[in-house]
Amino acid sequence: MEQIIQKAATLVEAFPYIRSFRDKIVVVKYGGSTQPDEGGSDTILTDLVFMETVGMRPVVVHGGGKEISRRLEEEGVESSWVNGLRVTDEATMRVVEETLFGVVNRRIVEGIEELGGNARGMSAKDAGIMRVRKHCAESEVNGPTEKVDIGFVGNVETIDPEPIRHACEALMIPVITPIGMGPDGKSYNVNADTAAGEIARALQAEKLVFLTDVNGLCRDPDDGETRISTLHVKDIDELVVGEIIRGGMIPKVRAGERSVKGGVTKTHIIDGRIPHSLLIEMFTREGVGTQIIQ
Ligand SMILES: Nc1ncnc2c1ncn2[C@@H]1O[C@H](COP(=O)(O)OP(=O)(O)OP(=O)(O)O)[C@@H](O)[C@H]1O
Ligand SMILES: [Mg+2]
Repeated sequence: MEQIIQKAATLVEAFPYIRSFRDKIVVVKYGGSTQPDEGGSDTILTDLVFMETVGMRPVVVHGGGKEISRRLEEEGVESSWVNGLRVTDEATMRVVEETLFGVVNRRIVEGIEELGGNARGMSAKDAGIMRVRKHCAESEVNGPTEKVDIGFVGNVETIDPEPIRHACEALMIPVITPIGMGPDGKSYNVNADTAAGEIARALQAEKLVFLTDVNGLCRDPDDGETRISTLHVKDIDELVVGEIIRGGMIPKVRAGERSVKGGVTKTHIIDGRIPHSLLIEMFTREGVGTQIIQ
């Protein structure tokens, strides 16, 4: 009996959150690092359908780093790197687009539909959602003064949130592939965290959540106990210079910084490997992961 009453208490605890997030846009960056391999399943899609069912407007921006590396290897396309960025020539970009939009996006859309939700897969290249300019990397040898062409890698120039909003209004969960259109009409790859941050900003989302494979931002990424539960934007530079924030965590934190400065009320980095971490973040008092604040 007590257990059943406890269940009711859980629902009651969720009540104010359900009410305050009614009709509010929540952008969820679904990291490639937390996506199950083909045929696998996780609780994230269930949580998204739940959110939509209780009246929120979730928007998914997905990554797919793991899957891209696997497919490039399968196809025998070799990669080189400049300052942590993959040099993306035409052959690489083709595999990136086929994988992200053709495989990962489809998998998420189908997963949502299977759970009884409605989803609309969209590439940010379409309908003018994301326009980009070419990114020029800094030379590893000669530093910031020398720029290196790394191919089809884009920096976000503009976001048109209207096509995304339309999908939300039609009660569909937009599932967005972070590929942008360059001035030459070609596809450019954009870091999914960066794209999620810009999209959240353009939508003036209530919340932006990064689902990844660590327990938030940690002083030591191998030790979950060293998690920083609240990160003030003013402290970010120091943590990047001190190399506490490294690699894949840099675009997340920078995107979080830009979005909170740009009017997104709340930004969180949470562990997508924990079952229902999204529901826990959305509907309970417990703070999980790292919250980025002004
Ligand atoms: N201070 C830090 N705290 C936690 N993780 C960190 C930190 N610095 C670097 N990282 C790394 O960032 C990684 C998460 O970023 P990563 O780009 O690998 O995954 P993702 O963004 O979730 O997936 P994808 O890029 O495919 O969308 C962690 O696995 C961790 O190794
Ligand atoms: Mg990443």
